[in-house]
Amino acid sequence: MKQLHKQATANHRRDEEIPIGPASPYSPKTFKQHRSLPRSINYLFKEQRLLFILIGILIGSTFFILQPTLSRLGPSEPNSSSSSPLPRSYSAGLTNHDQVSTFAQYARNQGKVGRVPAGIPKKRSRIVVTGGAGFVGSHLVDKLLDRGDDVIVIDNFFTGRKENLVHRFGNPRFELIRHDVVEPILLEVDQIYHLACPASPVHYKYNPVLDCDYKTNVMGTLNMLGLAKRIGARFLLTSTSEVYGDPLEHPQKETYWGNVNPIGERSCYDEGKRTAETLTMDYHRGAGVEVRIARIFNTYGPRMCLDDGRVVSNFVAQAIRKQPLTVYGDGKQTRSFQYVSDLVDGLVALMENEHVGPFNLGNPGEFTMLELAEVVKETIDASATIEYRPNTADDPHKRKPDISKAKELLNWEPKISLREGLPLMVSDFQNRILNEDEGKGLK
Ligand SMILES: NC(=O)c1ccc[n+]([C@@H]2O[C@H](COP(=O)([O-])OP(=O)(O)OC[C@H]3O[C@@H](n4cnc5c(N)ncnc54)[C@H](O)[C@@H]3O)[C@@H](O)[C@H]2O)c1
Repeated sequence: MKQLHKQATANHRRDEEIPIGPASPYSPKTFKQHRSLPRSINYLFKEQRLLFILIGILIGSTFFILQPTLSRLGPSEPNSSSSSPLPRSYSAGLTNHDQVSTFAQYARNQGKVGRVPAGIPKKRSRIVVTGGAGFVGSHLVDKLLDRGDDVIVIDNFFTGRKENLVHRFGNPRFELIRHDVVEPILLEVDQIYHLACPASPVHYKYNPVLDCDYKTNVMGTLNMLGLAKRIGARFLLTSTSEVYGDPLEHPQKETYWGNVNPIGERSCYDEGKRTAETLTMDYHRGAGVEVRIARIFNTYGPRMCLDDGRVVSNFVAQAIRKQPLTVYGDGKQTRSFQYVSDLVDGLVALMENEHVGPFNLGNPGEFTMLELAEVVKETIDASATIEYRPNTADDPHKRKPDISKAKELLNWEPKISLREGLPLMVSDFQNRILNEDEGKGLK
């Protein structure tokens, strides 16, 4: 059988190779040419295989050419990056969360598509908040978790406290990492709110370079910008009105370059933040990192450090403890005070918007220190007295934000006046001071 089969195969091959017809013995050239054709080409030409292949290619190409047109006619897919209904320039750099949330807006503007199809869940963002255990950071964390995002806090607890976040500890969308931003860290997130920095004079004068501000502002900001670049996250820097120094322009606009003493006691903070702004813009221009810069003016509210040398927390704590309110200098220097929820709304509006900034975020209501002391007395203890002390070096004479840029481009402005906001922090301070006193009693 095997032999028969071999024979048949051999015959078959010979049939293929030997030209049929009378010309064969006299036309060796033709015979040679046919033999030299590769066998795969022979295979292609046989039984109209080539024709079928060509028809297949034609059908395939027609489908791929028509497919985008067909998909435009059908219902849109808001969460598919390839068929995103947002134009490139509009969607570039937005996180999935942004793309989904801006889709409905875009669709409305275009008037072409109805709404996000039912059943497609809104993708939540993963967000890092450095300094999230501090005063502002912990309120920001509350807002982000409440709107449904995943939040990772990075904090070294230099001025922050776990107590500010303890009410979130059981939440599966919340994580807390003890880490110093001076060291690099790798995480996968969509947005980075960079708040880590000791912000009060008591803390930043403690060890200005090594423990505190300069190193944190420079190395910490570099590390977080590096992370943003590596993972393609959007980065928001919380800068400060201190970048204006002792301003020669009043009120301060974002275009004002400031009047800062580069070698004074407060310079580690002021110049640290100015450097952080520079680094942020360099990463934006040089590396294409999506950045936002907020210049925050004096902010107050629950969870502020009790004795951190900031004027509102000082006055409130002193009035509750029945101590005289300490006024530095003649008390005629001015500041504007913003309630913390207004600031948090401004930070989120800035992060979600397409404008880089810098933006002043503050309350334009302007008070002298003596006027502030009066409001504290009215709110807490009318019998409180005032004690004058010599002013600190480089204390700015005036501070008041011009917030027209934030009003116009972010559609943001503060809502809570000082007289409304102050009572909201008093009960928090009273409880903490009471606990502190009880703690002392136990020792
Ligand atoms: N509160 C204001 O009035 C005000 C005004 C202007 C700017 N700001 C800016 O807002 C941000 C938050 O200020 P705040 O008032 O909540 O201050 P805060 O001191 O309460 O919070 C700062 C947080 O950063 C943490 N931190 C400090 N250094 C760190 C480091 N190296 N690594 C990790 N974590 C570190 C602290 O432990 C703290 O939890 C700061 O960047 C500050 O400069 C605040």
